[in-house]
Amino acid sequence: MPHQGGDERLRIHRLTAEAAGDFAEDVRRGLGAERKSLPPKYFYDELGSHLFDAICLLPEYYLTRAEAEIFARHAGEIVAAAREGARRVTLFELGSGSASKTRRIIEALLAGQKTLAYVPVDISPAALEASAHALLGDYASLSVEAYAADYDTALPRLGESREEGSRALVLFLGSNVGNFDRAGARDFLRRLRGVLRAGDLVLLGADLKKDTGVLEAAYDDALGVTAAFNLNLLARVNRELGADFRLRDFRHVALYDAREGRVEMHLESLRDQTVRVGALGLDLDFRKGERVHTENSYKYSPGELSALAAETGFERAHTWLDSGERFSSNLFVATETKGERG
Ligand code: AVJ
Repeated sequence: MPHQGGDERLRIHRLTAEAAGDFAEDVRRGLGAERKSLPPKYFYDELGSHLFDAICLLPEYYLTRAEAEIFARHAGEIVAAAREGARRVTLFELGSGSASKTRRIIEALLAGQKTLAYVPVDISPAALEASAHALLGDYASLSVEAYAADYDTALPRLGESREEGSRALVLFLGSNVGNFDRAGARDFLRRLRGVLRAGDLVLLGADLKKDTGVLEAAYDDALGVTAAFNLNLLARVNRELGADFRLRDFRHVALYDAREGRVEMHLESLRDQTVRVGALGLDLDFRKGERVHTENSYKYSPGELSALAAETGFERAHTWLDSGERFSSNLFVATETKGERG
């Protein structure tokens, strides 16, 4: 049921409640496996979303600042390229979080059209609600139709939210694409292309391959915020599934695998131990040094980004870099496919 939230300009579709049983199932599958893992989408409960916002303020985590710098300098140009030949644009965002970088894009779009429909998708209902209210308070001509859902659930619904006759601009920022492996990224972009029309756009924020030291520091900061973000996954299993993980008996590990071009995060058991997960009726054994793989963050080269576009029904039309050339904003234009007319 859409939620009116006391404001005509806001609708929130809550599609996460139906997925409540998924967490238990994914934990059973992930921690029951020979090589233990947990899906990164579960980082973002209310506390985890706040910890992620804190990560974005860390000196080591350059990604958010680099992308914000690109938007501060080039939002006008990005939006001009997006708007070329279209009367109106509907703005979508996958993994919108606090949506602070989105403001530049919203402002640039509102310079060219009187009203704007913004359609954010986020796994965290709390983050969505907070960001939607903040944006509506600041932009009187904005309307928000939000999806509290994972990408797979939201994707087939997005077409419903396009403003009649408008072009879609889909923001997929902050290296969110990096959580997919290479094949998964291709598959997801193809499915995204499937709900778009020729001429629609994706603004893809991709972190670039670089020096191992810089990458590992970004995912293992001196203050320990990323460690807390990672360990919160176990705390969440404690809270929601009645487990008894002792957080001090695990440590955060972040490693760059240059061959795969990805930073991996793990939680490593500091001793032989058994953990009870009450809601699953499960006793889990951990050996000293055994790791739970919690996240991959894939890094890209410009060539890989062109190939990714070409293989998924897009063309990489423009790329903007920050001054340190650490991060890229890529405008992918949906190309015409057989039997389709823009
Ligand atoms: C939100 C997936 C883009 O991979 O850089 C930050 C998450 N993990 N620090 C990333 C994250 C550890 C982030 N993404």
